Amino acid sequence: MLHNPQSFYPLEPTRAQLAELGHVVWARAMAFTENLPTSPVVPAEKLPAALIKTMLQAPGETQGDLVPLLDQLDQAIKHAYDPGSPGMLAYVPGGGLSVSAVADFYARITNRFVSMARVAPALVALEVGVLRWFAGLCGLPSESGGVFTNGGSMANFSAIVAARHARLGEDFFDGAFYISAQTHHSVAKAARLAGFPAAALRIVPHRSDLTMDEDALRRLIALDRTKGKRPFLIVASAGTTNTGAIDPLPALAAIAREEELWLHVDAAYGGFFRLTERGHKRLSGIEQADTIALDPHKTLFQPIGVGALIARDPRLLVAAHENDGAYLRDVSRQQTYGGEHLPDFAHMAPELTRDVRGMRLWLPLHLHGVAAFRSALDEKLDLAAYVHDRLATVRRLEVPWKPQLSTVVFRMKAKSSSADDIAAANQATQELLGRINASGRILLSSTEIDGRFTIRVCIVMHRTHADRIAEALDIIASAVAQSD
Ligand SMILES: Cc1ncc(COP(=O)(O)O)c(C=O)c1O
Repeated sequence: MLHNPQSFYPLEPTRAQLAELGHVVWARAMAFTENLPTSPVVPAEKLPAALIKTMLQAPGETQGDLVPLLDQLDQAIKHAYDPGSPGMLAYVPGGGLSVSAVADFYARITNRFVSMARVAPALVALEVGVLRWFAGLCGLPSESGGVFTNGGSMANFSAIVAARHARLGEDFFDGAFYISAQTHHSVAKAARLAGFPAAALRIVPHRSDLTMDEDALRRLIALDRTKGKRPFLIVASAGTTNTGAIDPLPALAAIAREEELWLHVDAAYGGFFRLTERGHKRLSGIEQADTIALDPHKTLFQPIGVGALIARDPRLLVAAHENDGAYLRDVSRQQTYGGEHLPDFAHMAPELTRDVRGMRLWLPLHLHGVAAFRSALDEKLDLAAYVHDRLATVRRLEVPWKPQLSTVVFRMKAKSSSADDIAAANQATQELLGRINASGRILLSSTEIDGRFTIRVCIVMHRTHADRIAEALDIIASAVAQSD
């Protein structure tokens, strides 16, 4: 017997139900966005244990009510760090543009997929358009290409897999690749996932400004060759997470060329500063990379969940990832549409079925215009320079590095370089961080640099402006004044 659609197919809301759903959710979304400037960066209230139990509950057989369910969601959201708050200065925050969220909703309600050019050529072209713009920003040639990932870690992973495949072949245990102690940990993780033994990862010493020492790199490569290892990859950072230090990209590119190594640049944090005049200069050399990891959910202010990998020769991404399923062979591999070559993204990265991730970038880039992004990033560079100069005047603080991007680090001065005094300064800095974050108005994070506990101020959020930075500086100054 066939079912009556009205009573048996409740998964498809009617137009009226959908309108009601949209109305209720949209009103909440607007209230949420309006409240961001005043809402706490970290949860203001203690987490009720019952909330965890509620969230763990399995769904019931019968229909629930929308409003209580949304209330439950709001409770869970309230008890989470808020990367969209202007006071979020920890980690590398990604603010989440409202227009991107709208585009994302549209991408999901229209629910197309872009695994292969054939299934959605114009949407693949939309993503290619944004990726080409990224490549151009980094100075890569027009034949370069790329793919959207869900973040920087996956972009680093696919770059390492591509480099391994292109340079080492299937027998790669003797491969050696070069990072520094400042390289983001996703690179070491990617190496492990790509099948490398721990010994393949070679840590190149850094200079006092925390950038990779190219002379040490040359020596290490030579040493490795004498040991029968096969050097194949240099991973340079275009903005380390710790301090925003930029490795000497032109020098590393020259070494990669001379030694015939692949150069991957992890520009997950720093890459989009290329939009600014200062960033363009400071990131010069990036145009010589073989692959570049970018993270629009950091410095293009996107909602969490979008990264990108750009390759000078995208055919090498395909060579490393391509793997046809028999059930997909009837989807033709037509690649030319409107006179343009379009890629099959499924053959360039691990994911097969995925959403039109690029829509959330395409809409705000076209709607707001590139200048809006450039000026927001310029503002972050100015704010970081200001924070550095102001903190450097606080007598008890050590502010060791002028920011190259938008991260400033500081710590309590040690009385001397003795182990005891360093340990005491580390302890004092940790306590200082606790007092600063107790304000609830800003959240700073910490890292360890060469054995020193160090506090980071990372200014990336598009909603962070001079007013919150002035408040942050007051909070830090008064927290320092309370140190004994
Ligand atoms: C320099 C750098 N590379 C890679 C990553 C990893 O990116 P994701 O968290 O998007 O996976 C980060 C994250 O902070 C980063 O700062």
